[in-house]
Amino acid sequence: MSTVFNFTFVPWFRSVAPYIHTHRGKTFVVAVAGEAVAAGKLQAIAQDLALIQSMGVKVVLVHGFRPQVNEQLKAKGHPARYSHGMRITDEVALDCAQEAAGQLRYEIEAAFSMGLPNTPMAGSTIRVISGNFITARPVGIVDGVDFRHSGLVRKVDVAGIRRTLDHGAMVLVSPFGFSPTGEAFNLTMEEVATSVAIALQADKLVFLTEIPGIRVDPSAPESDDNPIDTELPLDTAEKLLAALPNPQQPTDTAFYLQHCVKACKGGVERSHIIPFATDGALLLEIYVHDGIGTMVIDEKLESLREATAEDIGGILQLIEPFERDGTLVRRERNEIERDIANYSIIEHDGVIFACAALYPYPEARTGEMAALTVSPQSQGQGDGEKILKRVEQRAKAMGLDSIFVLTTRTMHWFLKRGFVQVEPDWLPDARKRKYNWDRKSMVFVKKLA
Ligand SMILES: CC(C)(COP(=O)(O)OP(=O)(O)OC[C@H]1O[C@@H](n2cnc3c(N)ncnc32)[C@H](O)[C@@H]1OP(=O)(O)O)[C@@H](O)C(=O)NCCC(=O)NCCS
Repeated sequence: MSTVFNFTFVPWFRSVAPYIHTHRGKTFVVAVAGEAVAAGKLQAIAQDLALIQSMGVKVVLVHGFRPQVNEQLKAKGHPARYSHGMRITDEVALDCAQEAAGQLRYEIEAAFSMGLPNTPMAGSTIRVISGNFITARPVGIVDGVDFRHSGLVRKVDVAGIRRTLDHGAMVLVSPFGFSPTGEAFNLTMEEVATSVAIALQADKLVFLTEIPGIRVDPSAPESDDNPIDTELPLDTAEKLLAALPNPQQPTDTAFYLQHCVKACKGGVERSHIIPFATDGALLLEIYVHDGIGTMVIDEKLESLREATAEDIGGILQLIEPFERDGTLVRRERNEIERDIANYSIIEHDGVIFACAALYPYPEARTGEMAALTVSPQSQGQGDGEKILKRVEQRAKAMGLDSIFVLTTRTMHWFLKRGFVQVEPDWLPDARKRKYNWDRKSMVFVKKLA
């Protein structure tokens, strides 16, 4: 094996580890457009979902079937009729929808049953369970248009889905629902996925779609200057949605966005729009920092905050490589546990990317900023500066006049941010007694305005 491979594989694998830990035990609702199946992507998507599930994520898979129903209608010489961006499901269309859903379920179950050696599915045993989890009601007559057997979600059987997930199975939901009188209704995949995600209070809702995400300027074509916006705060997404025309087809910008916004407002912290055309899109979105598509995120979940006991594992993981190479002084787990309230952190998508601790010496009206760390994958984007500001604010709130740091390698970073070098003798007595003269750390102080 080439040694270059070791140098690329090992850091890469380690960089994924925080995401694996964070997502374990979480619930993701993954909505796959029927177009993805029509484009021959089912095998690859099933492989990625199997991998995600094997890493401890509970998956609810909702499939769409728009092109498959249209194909059946075409074969029967019956027109596909839409209004208000929704299918009008007459008797023939209902028949076609039932046939298409049945066929797709078989195909999906078959894709998850493959276990051939030397394929990504080798050794995986994924149980896929589908059922009557959705109760529906008719859309009815809107603006004089009778939608017949087109329906809307009335209720989601949360307990039934949860129980199935807790048994380790993947739940498969078709865009079909039944009324309490046993009548079948054709639903939209997007509404079903959003309703299920809200009802379960899922951690993520992911739409695997024909569009690559939402561009920074959706009205202009994609270019280097107008890339996909990887992260849309909920309020920005809402404003954008209000400015867009009512969507009529899946390729309209507002089509998936409206569901992401609804999910976010309903308590699903993150919803994503990602392209099925990119191989491994799910893995790239879920296990890589910036992802590949657009994530609508409820920013009320403060990304810069004080740490709690639940963050200890994430902090240890973040600082450990810098302790190993000597940039940071080694700290024991119990020391971090004891001092956890002193730490501030920046978290992104549930993963801790930056931290710093403040140890006050009130008698000298100063405090030490320690363990300042930004994850190597997100350095140089201003997170270091942000966490420094937070520590300064905390110090000011405690009535301190300055903060200081001890460093052996990062002096220029601090000099650029208003710190000045002082002799170790400057340190408060209590800190001087702990100063490691062998490490020869330099001391930098910043006066707080
Ligand atoms: C130092 C550190 C916290 C900065 O975080 P960051 O998020 O990359 O910082 P910012 O994005 O706010 O600032 C980036 C700038 O700092 C510079 N910088 C990064 N590390 C530096 C270092 N060790 N020395 C000098 N400058 C540094 C970058 O070149 C960049 O400069 P530019 O703005 O002129 O392009 C981060 O690099 C880190 O975690 N390093 C390892 C741990 C460490 O050294 N901690 C301090 C222990 S006392």
